[in-house]
Amino acid sequence: MSTRREMLVTSALPYANGPLHLGHLVEYIQTDIWVRFQRMRGHRCIYVCASDAHGTPIMLKARQEGIAPEALIAQVHATQVADFAGFHVEFDNYHTTHSAENRALVEEIFAALQAGGHIESRNVRQAYDEKEGMFLPDRFVRGTCPRCGAADQYGDSCEVCGATYRPAELIDAVSVLSNTPPVERDSEHLFFKLGDFEAMLKEWMAAGPLHESMRNKLEEWFEAGLQDWDISRDSPYFGFEIPGHPGKYFYVWLDAPIGYIASFRQLCDRRSDLDFDAWWRPGSDKELYHFIGKDIGYFHSLFWPAVLHGAGFRTPTAVFAHGFLTVNGEKMSKSRGTFIRARTWLEHLDPEALRYYYATKLTAGAEDIDLNLEDFVQRVNSDLVGKLVNIASRCAGFVHRVADGRLAGALPDPDLHQEMVAAAPAIEAAFDQRRYGQAIRQVMALADRANQYIDRQKPWIMARETGREQEVQAVCTQGLNAFRTLVTWLKPVLPRLAGEAERFLKCAPLNWDDAVVPLLDHQIGPFEALMQRVDPAAVQGLLEASRDSLEKKPATASSPPAEAGARPAATGDESPAEIGIEDFLKIDLRVARILEADEVDGADKLLKLTLDLGDGRRQVFSGIRSAYRAEDLPGKLTIVVANLKARKMRFGVSEGMVLAASGDGGIFLVAPDAGAEPGMRVT
Ligand code: 2FM
Ligand code: ZN
Repeated sequence: MSTRREMLVTSALPYANGPLHLGHLVEYIQTDIWVRFQRMRGHRCIYVCASDAHGTPIMLKARQEGIAPEALIAQVHATQVADFAGFHVEFDNYHTTHSAENRALVEEIFAALQAGGHIESRNVRQAYDEKEGMFLPDRFVRGTCPRCGAADQYGDSCEVCGATYRPAELIDAVSVLSNTPPVERDSEHLFFKLGDFEAMLKEWMAAGPLHESMRNKLEEWFEAGLQDWDISRDSPYFGFEIPGHPGKYFYVWLDAPIGYIASFRQLCDRRSDLDFDAWWRPGSDKELYHFIGKDIGYFHSLFWPAVLHGAGFRTPTAVFAHGFLTVNGEKMSKSRGTFIRARTWLEHLDPEALRYYYATKLTAGAEDIDLNLEDFVQRVNSDLVGKLVNIASRCAGFVHRVADGRLAGALPDPDLHQEMVAAAPAIEAAFDQRRYGQAIRQVMALADRANQYIDRQKPWIMARETGREQEVQAVCTQGLNAFRTLVTWLKPVLPRLAGEAERFLKCAPLNWDDAVVPLLDHQIGPFEALMQRVDPAAVQGLLEASRDSLEKKPATASSPPAEAGARPAATGDESPAEIGIEDFLKIDLRVARILEADEVDGADKLLKLTLDLGDGRRQVFSGIRSAYRAEDLPGKLTIVVANLKARKMRFGVSEGMVLAASGDGGIFLVAPDAGAEPGMRVT
């Protein structure tokens, strides 16, 4: 390895107002792969993130749920931590922007910008909701487009004709919060003078921190002229109050990226070997990388470097933008069941299968990537189970049978090993430049070579003949070394599988250059299946559960839209369709007695219930673990949808659904009055 580099890497901070979904995971998986790869090469790579806790939507969501915003963000933070762990996304630190560290940094940065003359205060005329007593972000006003007449458009731009305007220009504008027409009101705001940084930004850009597509965007923005940026918001707002400006708050988009620094700051307090200033002050010899979605390029390639520079901090080495996720070629959709939460995936499918599939699709650019579920099943089964794991499963048994699990002392085909090792630099470059799809294609081409070698040698035939034990051992040693090399290269993508392969091969944790020297004359452990085939029925179960798991709430005026600049959300909530009595009668509701209840390893929301429905036993997985202890359930009666098609989940098949009420107050199983018997029909 060349010199040991020191890098700090971030992913964009997810908002703390909703669960993570597969769209979010593109970025965290992409970043996590890169970080693991850099560490395997021997570099020091620190990965920090945080939940993005401030802003109007979070304030309103908490209000809607009748809880304090602090309680909402704490709840969501905890689910995010669990979901990241489930997908093997491993941060050195996961903090929140609503923290003491962040407040101190935001205040320091603001004071420095002010001292540098980069903050200006100005009056702003803005839409105001008199009923709610608050200023309205542009997206909280809707009305008819003044240019094309399209109804029900946002206050900043028309989705039909693309016109941009001020909310006051909308015809028949109403506040989405109260449905009343907003008035216009003046308020004093603080602006960051982005224009002061034009020369600095051009110089920064010339150092090459951006991919071509984003560089072009930046050129366009320069051409259009850099606008001052309003960094303040009026009360009520959930955020940090601006010192010296009572009733004014820092805009969430100012304090969010500062959250990167705050998360690192908190990590420094835990780790004595990290010197904050060495990483964050100008002249730092460390590298700083931000992974983001292409929709937030403006914030990260203009405001952010300018704010950092203006406040006496170092600027990013590079900003990497990726595209959006589509599922089966379309935007994620709640009604098609393709709006898939991270948690729902974990309940039905292997997280590494998704990591692998995303990796096959990722490039250095910001093109959208598609999760085609049929292709996903085929690709994972054919590459990982059919090619990669197959090499090990074809060889391991023979090594145990003919050589008591000991690898041979030499490779019978050193050229094949050399050929594989020679591919390392190209695969390494592809990972380093985020061309993961290319890296995977090269690895899989070599997996084919290894399988062809075994096909040619046919150890299963040799093994039938006495006296050929050494040959069998040698061929399988070659095969297992090929497997080890391929696993080394895939380890950033498949950390769990690689860990199990290391245990099976009884070797030290694999690093990037370890593939060069083969494992010889070495004892291996027993082989266990390293990866299960993806069952198409489990994918079906995932889609059905994604359709089911959504709270069906009608789109009312009280569901706030995302803040401008937020990631494009999925399509709106659909309210439940009306059904006739004939539809209702199709549902076979039965009384059931809970016979057994067990916790499910790896699913902290689920209990596995064994039910008596009068006609035998059924197994049902139910998301009630947060509300019930398993040992309290046996003996209880409840109501079950008995004719729900069996659904294959990751932990087993679920043969029905237990009815429960849920809301802010918790989850409550539905039960008949005393005297009801298992099997009785419920109508
Ligand atoms: O777009 C988003 O989801 C934002 N929460 C990202 C913030 S990234 C950074 F600036 F903090
Ligand atoms: Zn229009």
